[in-house]
Amino acid sequence: MRTILLGPPGAGKGTQADRIVEKYDVPHISTGDIFRENIKNGTELGKKAQEYMNRGELVPDDLVVEIATDRLLKDDCREKGFLLDGFPRTVYQAEKLDEFLAAHGHRLDKVIDLEVGEAELMKRLTGRRVCKVCGASYHIVNIPPAREGVCDKCGGELIQRADDNEETAKNRIDVYNRETAPLVDYYEKAGVLARIDGAAPLEETFGSITAALEE
Ligand code: AP5
Ligand code: ZN
Repeated sequence: MRTILLGPPGAGKGTQADRIVEKYDVPHISTGDIFRENIKNGTELGKKAQEYMNRGELVPDDLVVEIATDRLLKDDCREKGFLLDGFPRTVYQAEKLDEFLAAHGHRLDKVIDLEVGEAELMKRLTGRRVCKVCGASYHIVNIPPAREGVCDKCGGELIQRADDNEETAKNRIDVYNRETAPLVDYYEKAGVLARIDGAAPLEETFGSITAALEE
């Protein structure tokens, strides 16, 4: 499977990716997760990415393309394909991905576009809490943990992501509309786009995604 999860910040890409990976056993590649891991470990890459992420801006294209294509060269992706989450995010990144795939004799199977309105996105982003230890994601209203502030899976502390405050979240949505939304058209023209209602309940959205992947 060679698939992209597209959609604005808070659309549910990470949430649905967990389910897709479990069902189809495909490597999940989230550029956002790669950057957050590097920030946590204090690497040079993390230092470069952090200033952009904290403002809700995009990390420069060339840096992202290098990270993503390096990851795609690993054995698991050669064997099983990939589920990309948060990459590509600009037309330039999409063109570079196309070049990379063509050079390896591959093409995309499907691009899943999760559609959610802006007011709902803001609620999801500002209400999200993530586990400091295992990264599991919750929502204070929609998907609350059994004990407030504590991860169901590992007992770790739940915290708010640095870019989930109202101001930065708003900027991320603006950046999406400006830089990433044109990819919907790009992949529609390529004949691989599936538009999915991301505002539905979790399981319903997952059902629509699996139907699109298997069609
Ligand atoms: P990234 O980590 O990719 O973040 P994002 O795209 O902003 O997406 P999010 O992780 O915020 O949202 P999501 O769609 O995964 O939603 P989730 O499932 O958590 O990127 C972060 C930053 O890194 C960027 O701003 C940029 O700086 C940099 N970056 C990364 N990739 C880059 C690239 N390619 N180029 C340049 N820069 C890049 O869900 C959100 C909340 O809603 C959760 O609380 C969840 O529990 C809840 N929820 C989910 N689904 C439902 C539902 N159906 N019903 C009710 N609640 C739901
Ligand atoms: Zn946890």
